[in-house]
Amino acid sequence: MSNKILPNDPCWCGSGKKYKKCHRRFDIETEAYRKQGYTIFPPKLLKSAQDIEGIRAAGVITRGILNMLETEVKEGISTEKIDNLVREYTFDHGAIPAPLNYKGFPKSCCTSINECVCHGIPDENRILQNGDIVNIDITSILNGFYADSSRMYSIGDISENAQKIITVAKECLDIGIEQIKPYTRLNNIGDAIEPHAQKHGYSIVRDLCGHGVGKEFHEEPEVVHYAQARRKGVLMVPGMVFTIEPMVNEGSYSCDFLNDGWTVLTADRKLSAQWEHTLVVTETGYEILT
Ligand code: MF3
Ligand code: CO
Ligand code: CO
Repeated sequence: MSNKILPNDPCWCGSGKKYKKCHRRFDIETEAYRKQGYTIFPPKLLKSAQDIEGIRAAGVITRGILNMLETEVKEGISTEKIDNLVREYTFDHGAIPAPLNYKGFPKSCCTSINECVCHGIPDENRILQNGDIVNIDITSILNGFYADSSRMYSIGDISENAQKIITVAKECLDIGIEQIKPYTRLNNIGDAIEPHAQKHGYSIVRDLCGHGVGKEFHEEPEVVHYAQARRKGVLMVPGMVFTIEPMVNEGSYSCDFLNDGWTVLTADRKLSAQWEHTLVVTETGYEILT
């Protein structure tokens, strides 16, 4: 007796199609890459067309929140008020804010100001001031599907340094996204991002990474934003959904983890900036889902 799936058997992916009309070619191709030393992403974790539709719909909510905040986030608002706007918008649109109660996180979004690298906790006593830069990170769950994205917001007149790190961090995200292509290295992303940051005198945080996302908040694979030399690593294949979210530091990439269990600061207390999207690898390249 053999477990080998036959060409006319139903495909292992659950599409209901015959194996030979579905993932047979994928299995043959990825086997060749495996022999070359690539890590093959577990096929069961790949997203179906239906899953991707669900994540795309969650992405509409996430993007809607980030757009809504463009006019609301200004001098004098507390990060608690921002959190209230995020929570209300999310529930009003039939979704759930993924951060709320996630591993004990107390709020519905992360608000990371200036030297805060990520996971800043909204707080009624933290009032945005002229010159601040703030990353707001939103993850919405709609019908069980997750979409994760973040942007930078500027408060009033910001310094040239602050504007520059915001711009370069966005370029780092965009350059990372441009690397997404099926049957190439996932590590091409970090290999492209880190030199771009370094060219501007910045560093890339190593303690936190992008991640698979969609059916859970954080899934495989881990997406590093720094260069991994020539390590082959994971092969990108159609149906992989993950985030790219490089954290770009003005000084050293070293981070301090505060004892609130969440807040991450630059060790040297210089500025940090981050932008994030959720993406899917397609047959020809990628689609941004947020
Ligand atoms: N949205 C963050 C990310 O990009 C994760 C935040 S976890 C939380 O992965 F609990 F702090 F919300
Ligand atoms: Co996020
Ligand atoms: Co993320």
